[in-house]
Amino acid sequence: MTGFSAEWLALREPYDTRARNPEVLAAIANFLKPLHAVRVIDLACGTGSTLRSLSPRLPARQNWHLVDHDVRLLMHAKATPVAKDIDVTVTPLDLNRDLEAAFDAEVDLVATSALLDLVSAAWLDRLALALAARSIPFYAALSYDGRTRFIPTDLSDACVMAGMNAHQTTDKGFGPALGPTAAPFMIARLEGLGYSVVHGAADWVMGPEDRDIQTEILTGWASASDEMGALPLADATAWLTRRRLAVEAGCSSLLVGHIDFFATPRATR
Ligand SMILES: C[S@@+](CC[C@H](N)C(=O)[O-])C[C@H]1O[C@@H](n2cnc3c(N)ncnc32)[C@H](O)[C@@H]1O
Repeated sequence: MTGFSAEWLALREPYDTRARNPEVLAAIANFLKPLHAVRVIDLACGTGSTLRSLSPRLPARQNWHLVDHDVRLLMHAKATPVAKDIDVTVTPLDLNRDLEAAFDAEVDLVATSALLDLVSAAWLDRLALALAARSIPFYAALSYDGRTRFIPTDLSDACVMAGMNAHQTTDKGFGPALGPTAAPFMIARLEGLGYSVVHGAADWVMGPEDRDIQTEILTGWASASDEMGALPLADATAWLTRRRLAVEAGCSSLLVGHIDFFATPRATR
């Protein structure tokens, strides 16, 4: 799959941090509060965004095992400054090939963020079974859910977004991706395996001052839409030009819908 640069992950992290659903975060904190020490695995950790967001809400003694296939991102993650009672280890792993190898030790929580929409139904089934077999709670943040809101609107928005959402379902290295339907699919699978799930919206909200991230996102969407042949290249280019002018003029706002959830096994471990 196309790699994710540390620069892109740094650009999006403040929006991710603000978007993370507070009720879901509170449910995790509440669930883990009784533990003296907490062991967490973060699947596809990138530069460690979930470590930075979640660790201040957990009991002081923590052991984080960060997994990703990109060694450069793992090096960034390992460099995250953390409180003195937090241990961080990193492991390079291809989660498509070797998912089960990530579960080689006892853990209190498996976490992931901005991953589920990239993966296939078959891979989510594998993950759900691996979690349920070990009765492990699961936190999945920031799965794109297909909702967008543009201000101002543009006649080509619907065509571009149809192309973008079609691109969401192409193979990102885990088989045909579920894209916007991934989070509801996984919630249903886990509920079917006896989990209780707390979920809620975790939307990116970008205002007129958020120029850099809007430009990056809109450029990516125009390119994805073009790749899917959703509209003629000249129309996609014209859409992007109008959108960029609105961003530069400070009159563009964008909402991108995401879902967060926390799933706990009903059976006690
Ligand atoms: C959208 S980024 C999210 C990163 C991080 N969780 C965050 O929220 O900032 C997706 C991550 O999945 C990782 N990834 C993609 N394919 C992978 C694979 N086959 N095995 C392990 N990690 C993978 C990428 O390297 C990247 O760090």
